[in-house]
Amino acid sequence: MPTQFITEGATRLEVPELERFRTPAGDYAPSLTRVFYNPLMELCRDISVSAMQVLAKEVGGLRICDPLAGVGARGLRYAKEVEGVSNVVLNDRSPEAFELIRRNAELNGLARLVEVRNEDANALLWSHRPRFHVVDLDPFGSPAPFVDAACAALVNRGVLMLTATDTAPLSGTHARACLRRYGARPLRTEYCHELGVRILVSFCQRVGGRHEFALIPLLAHSTLHYFRVYLRAGAGARASDDVLARQGYVSHCHACGRRAISRGITAELPSTCECGGKLTHAGPLWLGQLMDEAFVQRVIADLHSRDFKLRHSALTLLNRCVEEADGPPTFYDIHEVARRAKAPPPKIADFIAELKGRGYFASRTHFSPTGLRTDAPLGEMIRSLAK
Ligand SMILES: C[S@@+](CC[C@H](N)C(=O)[O-])C[C@H]1O[C@@H](n2cnc3c(N)ncnc32)[C@H](O)[C@@H]1O
Ligand SMILES: [Zn+2]
Repeated sequence: MPTQFITEGATRLEVPELERFRTPAGDYAPSLTRVFYNPLMELCRDISVSAMQVLAKEVGGLRICDPLAGVGARGLRYAKEVEGVSNVVLNDRSPEAFELIRRNAELNGLARLVEVRNEDANALLWSHRPRFHVVDLDPFGSPAPFVDAACAALVNRGVLMLTATDTAPLSGTHARACLRRYGARPLRTEYCHELGVRILVSFCQRVGGRHEFALIPLLAHSTLHYFRVYLRAGAGARASDDVLARQGYVSHCHACGRRAISRGITAELPSTCECGGKLTHAGPLWLGQLMDEAFVQRVIADLHSRDFKLRHSALTLLNRCVEEADGPPTFYDIHEVARRAKAPPPKIADFIAELKGRGYFASRTHFSPTGLRTDAPLGEMIRSLAK
């Protein structure tokens, strides 16, 4: 396999020769490579390095598992760039990946800090002792097949990080695949990516319940072609019951744009909107907060101390996550609200200030450049724009 050397953060990596995997359309198809490496995930890995540093400051001697490691980009960056890590287990079932991870560990002088394995991820996670402080699931497509074993491999207060690239099923393009994988119904709306993230979180929480873990989001973002979620696992039946009580459904009216929220997995769902239109439902999904503001602020502070190539983009994304942290589930598209008001779209910053002035929560959202997160009623926003 022809390879090349690249640098991400402070880590050198031998990766498949990227130019060989250009598609005729000019983009790059990492899934065609013998060993997986996607340069488009650098931003995601940068944020993960800073998040890991925040966790390492909480717990000395962090033990981390990267069970689907590819060339080892994530696990090796944690070992090289995070202070306070005592051990990183990197695993891939592909023998070629295993060899490349070993070479990359040597290349970075990490042979003593990391342990490289070549087995099935689930087998490793179910059997590994001691348990890990962090498990980072970064699969092709859906993380669903690995969440149960990842929970089994976590210590109390451990953190489950995961990436999902099956955003089409989660956002409602392939609803049946979402039902099969996550036991939930997605919905195509202007906030379908947020619903997808909430479905993913809820799925993990229901699996976590089997381990009597309450999985609480620290940070969740939707970027490019993937969702990324960080969940803290707190042990205890009562905490886990509490998390399950915050599951529910979002019902959407395609006629007028209103949404209704129903709480509880066994909630009775309304079928008709105030306008007489038919409501369609998404869920079960997580209705609680997606961001822990204090945690995200600490990640931002760490990012400021690093000279990552993509630091500016990472900070822009996380600052927006902070802005929307205390907002309600679902957001509006400002153009859609203006269209319903038969008015030109207002400047989003001005409209946010106006809604805040009236005592509502209002912010932008990282999910969409034209998104507006607010608890103001849609009817009131339409009336105010129509004036
Ligand atoms: C998306 S890639 C990992 C990318 C990597 N984390 C990175 O940041 O570059 C997924 C990897 O999981 C491996 N894999 C898939 N199923 C597996 C399983 N059941 N057990 C172990 N490895 C698996 C594949 O060989 C592939 O290398
Ligand atoms: Zn309606």
